[in-house]
Amino acid sequence: MYDFDQIIDRRSTDCVKWDNLEELYGDKDLLPLWVADMDFPVAPAISNALKKRTEHGVYGYNLISDRYYQAVINWMKRRHSWDIEREWIVFTPGVVPALSYAVRAFTKPGDKVIIQSPVYHPFYSTIETNGRHVVTNPLIYKDGKYYMDYEDLEEKIDSRTRLLFLCSPHNPVGRVWTEEELRRLGKICLENDIIVVSDEIHFDIVFKGHKHTVFAKVSEEIRENSIICTAPSKTFNIAGLQVSNIIIPNRRLRERFNIELEKDHISRPNIFGQEALIAAYEESEEWLDELIHYIEENKNYFIGYVENNLPQLEVIDSEGTFLLWVDCSGLNMDPEELNHFFVNRCKLALNRGDMFGQEGRLFYRFNIGCPRSILKEALDRIKEGIESL
Ligand SMILES: Cc1ncc(COP(=O)(O)O)c(C=O)c1O
Repeated sequence: MYDFDQIIDRRSTDCVKWDNLEELYGDKDLLPLWVADMDFPVAPAISNALKKRTEHGVYGYNLISDRYYQAVINWMKRRHSWDIEREWIVFTPGVVPALSYAVRAFTKPGDKVIIQSPVYHPFYSTIETNGRHVVTNPLIYKDGKYYMDYEDLEEKIDSRTRLLFLCSPHNPVGRVWTEEELRRLGKICLENDIIVVSDEIHFDIVFKGHKHTVFAKVSEEIRENSIICTAPSKTFNIAGLQVSNIIIPNRRLRERFNIELEKDHISRPNIFGQEALIAAYEESEEWLDELIHYIEENKNYFIGYVENNLPQLEVIDSEGTFLLWVDCSGLNMDPEELNHFFVNRCKLALNRGDMFGQEGRLFYRFNIGCPRSILKEALDRIKEGIESL
């Protein structure tokens, strides 16, 4: 019913993905499959709600409405079978700011925060810019799939380790962690007094045969030890509206987190973000189900194309997210040569794997949240690029 094949020209909309290429890659004519937003228009209910609010003409201070809270509560219940209470919901203008607030709320300068690399790059910077230390607990890459390394985790923990950032589902490797995997992780963290900040921003886009488990649902003890970061931004392609909800069931942890927000006087979403969230969570599920299907088909198309035409690449079969992690070691290039190859020969703007950690140095991340014709164009460019070597 919805047309995800439609091409919308995003150029000249001050958009990071398409309008920033000259500055970032030195060439404005690249085809961008990098930063994690999608090239699809939003669900009609969202654009209608925004139009209606725009037409009102007065955009003064707003309240967080009951409809907003109820929409979040209903979403968690319907899509994630998670019963939450209204007072657990803390608004922040993004998940990355929430990571930073969590670092400040739950650690002291010089403390250590664990991350599971390769991982979304602001995990590093939110820790480091706050004067804390990153401890990496690299994922294990085995037979084309990624796993958590619990032994390494236990070895790395010491008395200064206070916090762990979990990425669930995992960006960039595309794992949707199983309940069992999460339980094991949660147990180690509980035993060592480590609070878990679970970034679940990608939790709505999960493929057939996989199920997202909200970390706090694993057990009551784990729930009391976790901060769950959620947002409609990736799911409904509204990252520019800057709305996210951090769900903190434990009162003590919530109070500590809120102190950090209060210092910056952050308390509510802007009116457009609020309207968009309500329309997304209350009226756009059908759109989302079709979107997930389309992205899964994009993934299958990508994998099929690579299998048939690009034996030098190996795609890590993702279980969710609109991001694909691709092993490029078969091209026999070092990271700088790979960068040169993708930018100068293929004319593509992608995310280089080493930005997620040195484990990713021979990988690239592709954003497949785009019309299939764009994906085909990108893959054709790689094929031609290899042929021209
Ligand atoms: C795992 C993860 N967390 C957070 C974000 C960004 O969050 P926000 O834009 O809400 O700060 C992204 C965006 O790519 C992401 O992949």
